[in-house]
Amino acid sequence: MIFNLYGIFMSDSYLSNRNSIRQKMRSLRNSINAKQQQKITKLLIKKLVSYLPIIQAKKIAIFLSIDGEPNTKPLIKVLLEENKQIFLPVIKSYVENDLIFINYTPKTPLILNTFGILEPIINKDNILNLSDLDVMLVPLVAFDRKGQRLGMGRGYYDRTLQNWQKYNFLPIGIAHDFQLVEKLPTAKWDIPLPIIITPSHIWQW
Ligand SMILES: Nc1ncnc2c1ncn2[C@@H]1O[C@H](COP(=O)(O)OP(=O)(O)O)[C@@H](O)[C@H]1O
Ligand SMILES: [Mg+2]
Repeated sequence: MIFNLYGIFMSDSYLSNRNSIRQKMRSLRNSINAKQQQKITKLLIKKLVSYLPIIQAKKIAIFLSIDGEPNTKPLIKVLLEENKQIFLPVIKSYVENDLIFINYTPKTPLILNTFGILEPIINKDNILNLSDLDVMLVPLVAFDRKGQRLGMGRGYYDRTLQNWQKYNFLPIGIAHDFQLVEKLPTAKWDIPLPIIITPSHIWQW
């Protein structure tokens, strides 16, 4: 029997259902070729840069894509050209939510973390205070018709997005259209997203 952190019993079928959705979506998005990715990125950028909360945002947290996620590099370039301040997540187990966000410019040195993801190098002047953030672009593996989100399974964004309303930034999920499922099996700690943007649609709840 498996109990999670909260002492909640997690049945085998519940866990395997979440994991099989993760596996299916991750293999689907890894099968996208470079040309399709380019097209997806173009459409996503178009949607994002014409979306009012992005237009109005000064500080935007984003992530560097892995694992077939929509390519965020061209998006970061466009946002920097529009004079947005960009922040990237860094995994640090000594902070409460495990994620801190660091200012990124084309001059910022990047290093690989334990998951093979590039992270900016931290110095005392480039750490973001979440209360100063306007928009957080959030990665996801699957989402459903109610805005529930499934991540890679480590809960980093669930912890970071706890009480996001209090900080007054807007979380926006970024995904491929096919990452939508009818209904996700959710856990008590899962934080749903108020907005998810795909190449063809802006979902709002
Ligand atoms: N707010 C939280 N506080 C403490 N642990 C959490 C919190 N949110 C998630 N977790 C932990 O993270 C783990 C992974 O969460 P899960 O929702 O399955 O991952 P993901 O959201 O990445 O798909 C959970 O088993 C849970 O123990
Ligand atoms: Mg979760």
